[in-house]
Amino acid sequence: MGVEIRVEGLTKSFGSQTIWQDVSLTLPSGEISVLLGPSGTGKSVFLKTLVGLLKPNRGHIWIGDRDLPYLPESQLYDTRKLFGVLFQDGALFGSMNIFDNVAFPLREHTKKSESEVKRIVMEKLDLVGLLGAESKLPGEISGGMKKRAGLARALVLDPEILLVDEPDSGLDPVRTAYLNQLFVDLNAQINATFLIVTHDINTARTVPDNIGLLFRRELAMFGPREMLLSSEEPVVRQFLNASKIGPIAMSEEKDVSELEAEARMGLEAGKLPPIPPQLMPSDGRVRPTQQAPGGWCAAHGVVPPPGSFIDDLGRNWVEEWPRYVASMAPVGAPAPGGQGGQVPGGRPPGGTY
Ligand SMILES: Nc1ncnc2c1ncn2[C@@H]1O[C@H](COP(=O)(O)OP(=O)(O)OP(=O)(O)O)[C@@H](O)[C@H]1O
Ligand SMILES: [Mg+2]
Repeated sequence: MGVEIRVEGLTKSFGSQTIWQDVSLTLPSGEISVLLGPSGTGKSVFLKTLVGLLKPNRGHIWIGDRDLPYLPESQLYDTRKLFGVLFQDGALFGSMNIFDNVAFPLREHTKKSESEVKRIVMEKLDLVGLLGAESKLPGEISGGMKKRAGLARALVLDPEILLVDEPDSGLDPVRTAYLNQLFVDLNAQINATFLIVTHDINTARTVPDNIGLLFRRELAMFGPREMLLSSEEPVVRQFLNASKIGPIAMSEEKDVSELEAEARMGLEAGKLPPIPPQLMPSDGRVRPTQQAPGGWCAAHGVVPPPGSFIDDLGRNWVEEWPRYVASMAPVGAPAPGGQGGQVPGGRPPGGTY
């Protein structure tokens, strides 16, 4: 099971430029969280700070009783082994083939035999659908394959925490859909704590348990998916609905006169769209941290937008859920019927990632 990360009052500046300040959030153990924010708001800086590559100016990052920014170098080195990271640029070594790239952390950080290294590398390449590509150089494979190779490398040390920076940038919508399903499947298998930075609204709406939004140098909101998808807060609503109307402009913030002009023209954000069902593992099982559809809304007296939690086949997952869970085999056992249940937004057809 992954570990919980508690961020308290975190502030990061470069010189006189404050990137974000007073960020507090908890990444719950084993859950998938997504971090959103306009370009340049410091999402990559946040991931690098979490993993200890950048030092915050203030605040704490608690993993158990260890406060990451203040650990002595030797303990920081040990704590870093809990993390698997996929950086925004993939950061593969161009002169090494895919096998050696993925094997690199194992050869660097463990004393495993070459046959053991091979077993682990092939297992992870299989997990991300890259078996057969191991002898290719990064320059010889597609952008999507590079991302998956980077993901396999982030997974070889069996991380408790997986940080992923824009895995979907530069991918076409179909590959992004496969990648989203891969994250959900991976989370079900390894139960690590995931934080995914993305610009893809569909990913943000369907993949995570929690969503956070960085805006104007602060964490505008962080919480359960249903909380953000039903939020009337203008910036959250604008971002999650990819709307031009709201406080975010091309150059990040609109000034007051632009907002007043929008108000005068009677422009206001439309109705909230329905909350889609959350993606589920493609083998039909339920992730241990997955919440019942509509559960957060019901517990907080929030009426979700009309049409919420209904899948493409017209099934209402608030109603289906108790029946579905009751019919599930325990985790670790084969899914009912041997081919997976009827899952909302299940794996797209095609079979492989
Ligand atoms: N090492 C550094 N030194 C100085 N400034 C930096 C450094 N790294 C990042 N920055 C600045 O921090 C700000 C946030 O950068 P960051 O890369 O985290 O943005 P981002 O939210 O990830 O954007 P994008 O969505 O485009 O990837 C930018 O203004 C950037 O120039
Ligand atoms: Mg970035």
